[in-house]
Amino acid sequence: MADWITVAAVGEIAPGSCKVADVDGVAVAVFNLGGEYFAIEDVCTHDGGELASGELDGDQVICPRHGARFCVRTGDALSAPAYEPTARFPLRIEDGQIQVRDERWD
Ligand code: FES
Repeated sequence: MADWITVAAVGEIAPGSCKVADVDGVAVAVFNLGGEYFAIEDVCTHDGGELASGELDGDQVICPRHGARFCVRTGDALSAPAYEPTARFPLRIEDGQIQVRDERWD
């Protein structure tokens, strides 16, 4: 079972922004949507764009390279040219710390 990794303190990520963290060697973008936190892999499934540097539009992030949209809540690809979801990671808050776990290989 993969360990929970602390990625930020609560309050460190402003609403409407995100932080990239290393979770067991995987770049994970942790978003704050109005006080709710979500973690997806910081990789666009079209051609590897870094989603964390994309613009947020509600609960969607727009890949800065060719404009594919992904749901920050689920990782689902919502528009071309991306068709495959990016990974979504479980997230919890423990003692004021935001923690993420990559359980894909458990
Ligand atoms: S790399 Fe993201 S849309 Fe092309």
